[in-house]
Amino acid sequence: MAENRRFLLVRRPQGTPEESDFALEASDIPVPPPGGLVIRNRFASLDPAQRGWMDDAESYMPPIPLGDPVRATTVGIVHASDNPDFAVGQWVMGLNALEDYSVAMPGGFTMAIDPDAVASPSNYLSALGAVGLTGYFGLLEVAKPRAGETLLVSGAAGAVGSAVGQIGKIKGCRVVGIAGGPAKCRRLLEDYGFDAAIDYKGKDHEALVAAIAEAAPDGVNMVFENVGGPVMEAEMFNLAHHARIVLCGLISEYNAPEKVGLRNLWQVLARRATIHGFLIADYAERFAEGGAQMAQWLAEGKLRMDEDVQEGLENAYPAFMRLFTGANTGKLVLKIS
Ligand SMILES: NC(=O)c1ccc[n+]([C@@H]2O[C@H](COP(=O)([O-])OP(=O)(O)OC[C@H]3O[C@@H](n4cnc5c(N)ncnc54)[C@H](OP(=O)(O)O)[C@@H]3O)[C@@H](O)[C@H]2O)c1
Repeated sequence: MAENRRFLLVRRPQGTPEESDFALEASDIPVPPPGGLVIRNRFASLDPAQRGWMDDAESYMPPIPLGDPVRATTVGIVHASDNPDFAVGQWVMGLNALEDYSVAMPGGFTMAIDPDAVASPSNYLSALGAVGLTGYFGLLEVAKPRAGETLLVSGAAGAVGSAVGQIGKIKGCRVVGIAGGPAKCRRLLEDYGFDAAIDYKGKDHEALVAAIAEAAPDGVNMVFENVGGPVMEAEMFNLAHHARIVLCGLISEYNAPEKVGLRNLWQVLARRATIHGFLIADYAERFAEGGAQMAQWLAEGKLRMDEDVQEGLENAYPAFMRLFTGANTGKLVLKIS
């Protein structure tokens, strides 16, 4: 008999998540509430942000309640509907959870998608979804790149970082990426067209500061920050005057038991730089506009977005952890069915 498997958060992780913080449980397939729908999830987005939602901490979204499935953006097919705007069989995307079937109500984030317009419906979780659009809006609306400027991207081989770097190239910037390991650095140069790549692994503070200085001798006009910690500290010593820093993510701190601060804020003052906190949710109403431009760049071969597709809800834990070991090669997606 068909059932609804759900990947539940049963204990709040202390530092690095453990497998026993989660449980896979089965329940009955839900029925749509009045005006709502039930979605058969096909792909789910695995995102660093989910780690923050597991903590009982003040943030831009409430924590995932213990015993609930882990919140996730998914794409899937309407399985049952009590809403005239969503027919059974229609493909949709929305903020749901790691489970086979999700209940969604109109007025939420649920929107129709066209699977025939893309190579795989999972593309709505990568290039055409919140992650690709984080790169698009974060760079274009906040950093506002000008041709000839130098853009430094951390977490550069990842989903957001690779998009940011390629959009920076489209806008005529010199793009320098920081990533972990020689293979990822090679991908920055060969697959994503970066001008320079820096492997942060095995480098102490001085070596990282020197490597950035060598790649950006006139200083960095824009920093797109995905990582924080020691990488960001080294970046601050290479700012050009009036540099713009887009603070998009701090993944190096997500599993740290105690949050750390930036120890050298003085550099921001001395270089008259600005740090701008960025959240993609603020651009939800402009997704169609950004998605159309990203789709055009993909079709023109100007943009490439790799996906790291892992299989099976039962593998949600090891798949999720790929984000924190750096094992993911592109946008991390879980194929649910
Ligand atoms: N503000 C927003 O609206 C928004 C939206 C989406 C994503 N984000 C943020 O953007 C960042 C990237 O997200 P993504 O989805 O594109 O993930 P991703 O970059 O595809 O994957 C995560 C990568 O982070 C790197 N990493 C993990 N632990 C690290 C550490 N301790 N130090 C340095 N690097 C580490 C690893 O790459 P290496 O192998 O290179 O270390 C890993 O592959 C995250 O910080 C995320 O929270 C923000």
